[in-house]
This record gives sequence, C-alpha cells and structure tokens, in this order.
Amino acid sequence: MAATVQPEQVVARVPSASNVSQVWDIDVPTMERFLQDLEKKNAVRFTAQQLCSFTNNYSKVLGSGGFGVVYGGQFPNGVKIAVKVLKKSLPHERAQRQFMAEVSTIGRTCHINLVRLYGFSYDHLMSAIVYEYMENGSLDKYLFNADAHGIDGNKLLDIAIGTAKGIAYLHEECQQRIIHYDIKPSNVLLDANFNPKVADFGLAKICNRENTHDSSIGYKGTPGYSAPEFLLNNYPITYKCDVYSFGMLLFEIVGRRRNARVGSIDSLDWFPKLVWEEYEKDELATMILSHGIEENDIERAKRMAVVALWCVQDSPEARPPMNAVVKMLEGGVEIMPPPKPFLYLFSVGINLLNPPIYTGNSSDNSTGNGTHSNWYKEHSTRIMDEYKIQVASSSQEKEDHGSSYAEEKSRSVDSS
Ligand SMILES: Nc1ncnc2c1ncn2[C@@H]1O[C@H](COP(=O)(O)OP(=O)(O)OP(=O)(O)O)[C@@H](O)[C@H]1O
Ligand SMILES: [Mg+2]
Repeated sequence: MAATVQPEQVVARVPSASNVSQVWDIDVPTMERFLQDLEKKNAVRFTAQQLCSFTNNYSKVLGSGGFGVVYGGQFPNGVKIAVKVLKKSLPHERAQRQFMAEVSTIGRTCHINLVRLYGFSYDHLMSAIVYEYMENGSLDKYLFNADAHGIDGNKLLDIAIGTAKGIAYLHEECQQRIIHYDIKPSNVLLDANFNPKVADFGLAKICNRENTHDSSIGYKGTPGYSAPEFLLNNYPITYKCDVYSFGMLLFEIVGRRRNARVGSIDSLDWFPKLVWEEYEKDELATMILSHGIEENDIERAKRMAVVALWCVQDSPEARPPMNAVVKMLEGGVEIMPPPKPFLYLFSVGINLLNPPIYTGNSSDNSTGNGTHSNWYKEHSTRIMDEYKIQVASSSQEKEDHGSSYAEEKSRSVDSS
C-alpha cells in the first residue's frame, strides 16, 4: 500500500510529467497496483483527512460537473488548490476508470496550457484529484453570462490560441498521443492573467500514436461539441474529434453565446450554421458586428470563424491538425476557403467517409511534419516578394540579354 505524505512535504513533491504509470498498457489493472505505481514514481497521495483540512471541510464549492464537485482549498504553505471529488454514486468500475484516466493522463503532461495535477486521494470512502487552482474559473462563464463579458477580443483570440496549443501538445508532443474527448468552454480554465489551460481529462484516453484510431470506444464527450463520427457505427474515431470540438468552442468564442440557443440543430438559431451562411454570402463582418463585437475586433473574429469552419468539417481528414490550427489562428498565413460543413446534418445519405466536397489529400497521420497546404498558405515576406520579382525579371532578362547581366541583378537583391 502506498504511504501517505505529510502536508509540509506536499509542494516539494509535486509530480512531474513522466511520473505516472501507463495504466492503459496494463491488461486488467487493479486499483492498488495502479496506485503503487503512481506512488513509486513520486505522485503525491493524500489522505481523506488531509484533503478535508486543505479544503476547510469542503466549505467552498468552485463548481460541479457530470463526475463530481470541485472544491477550493489551499496547502499549508498557502498554495491554492482545486479538489475534484468524484461522485460516489457512479458505478464502481466506471468511477475507477474515470479516476485512472484522469490521474494517468494529466499526470504525464506538462505544458503551460494544460492544468497541472498536484496529487490524488483514493480509499474506499472517496476518490479525489488535486489540481492547481485557476483564479478566473472556466471560460464558459465569460462567454455566456451577460454580466461577465469582461474579456476583450484580443484576449479572446489569445485564449483560443493557448487552448489550441494545449490540445496540439496532447496530440503531438506527448510520448503517447492523448485524445481529450471533451473539449468545451467549461473545460478551459483561466488563471489570474486569463491565460487558458485545458482541464478535465477524465474522458481522455491514451493511445499509441501509431494507432490512428480507436473504434472500440462508445459515445464520448458532450452533445453539441462531439464530432459526427460518434453517431456512426464502427466509424474510426481519431484525435480529429478534438479538432471538431475545438471548432465548436471557437464558434462560441466568436459569438460570445452558446451555439444552440433552443437546443435544436434544425432551429435557425444554431450559430455555426449562421456563420457558414454569412461566410458564403461574404457577410461575416456584418453578422459579427451585429453580435455586438467591436469594429476593431472584426478581423480577429473573422479569422476565428473561418478556422472554426475548417475545424468542424464533416470528414475528420478534412479538419486541420491542431498545430495547423495554431498557425491559422496566429495569423501571418493565408487561410484557404473552407468547404461547406454540416452536410451530415442537412442532407440524407451523406457518406462521411467520402465527403463530396473535400478534395484534399491529407492523411490522418500527417499531423506533425506533413504539408498543411490544404488549410493555409505561408505569406511571403516583402524581401521574398522582391526576390521573386527580381528572379522573374532576371529570367526574362536572361532570355533578352544573356545571363551575366541577370546574375548581377540577382546579387544586388541578396546584398540589399
Ligand atoms: N482547477 C480549477 N480551478 C478553479 N476552478 C475549477 C478548477 N477545476 C474546475 N473548476 C470549476 O469547477 C467547474 C466544474 O468542473 P468539472 O470539470 O467538474 O465539470 P464541467 O467541466 O462543468 O462538466 P463535465 O463534468 O461535463 O466536464 C468548472 O466549470 C470550473 O468552474
Ligand atoms: Mg470539466
């Protein structure tokens, strides 16, 4: 059985990225073996009494979700924490899986845009996960509460970019790819400076990067954010389901409203469809203005809207990988026009495997180093433009006057 730690040892022993065992690699992991592995690798295990003391007897509720209640608290040295106590009503096996998924995935990550895990508690009475405290809570409250529209357009774009970087890290930079499966505004937390961190890895599952899909899983995520492939039997589920959910989140950032207001996708008030219609008519800017977005934020909002349209493409392959999404959001590249999305919603018999419009040739494996030319084109710089002009005129001159004069011209560009 893993030993517990004293409160004063806690902060010095915060687990690091590589500390947590690969539970999903074990055929039928027993909980105790999993916990022993965690402890051996230096993850902090707290007792229920310690957590009770850190949270002042669970006196401050920060929020609650499908899997439990989150309480505020602090370590004896004053470092603030958030403690997620997992619901006891969950069936035992589901609770264990939820717990192991959350601890094992967050425990192996380390990125400025991912929420940090400090430790955990597990006994027959309760299981809980201890995170760093995020002063400004979750993004949803700034997008959807009329009285909390305090974040300006520039900061919202930064939040979108930071969130995209966090997901890109999970997909591309971890030793094993991590799919989040539940990207949405309530799972993006904001620190004291409104820097975003992706949270709530409870549904996440680690998969080998070589295994490009996992068709064994059932429905995951939250309706309204989860990708259409979850609705199809035996359709391969890849990390691109997170890209779709991120696109839905981006629409909500652009509109500063929930995508669906009356809960029906057939309703006219489904924001993503409206964005597409206005984009098609080349009237995105007018529509965005009518949503109360300030004039000087229009360009940023338009960029986010177009990236969102790319992220929610019906075909997972047509969606850009998250590192391309980061580039597109950051600007400085020319974003290609996205094909029409949501065909699966408004047409009968659409085959998602062979979407009729998308003609790109990207492979779902080509995330890291592959070409992103389906989604964007690098802008050439002024110097490059000048050089191209010089080269073009040089070759013309070569034809006209022979090579020596052209070489001279070209050298003058290099030295300028
Ligand atoms: N580390 C944290 N710091 C500050 N507040 C937090 C932290 N973690 C969670 N919260 C708050 O608690 C709320 C509930 O989080 P939780 O992840 O349990 O549920 P959810 O994301 O709303 O829903 P779901 O269970 O579907 O993911 C969050 O929306 C957020 O406001
Ligand atoms: Mg959550």
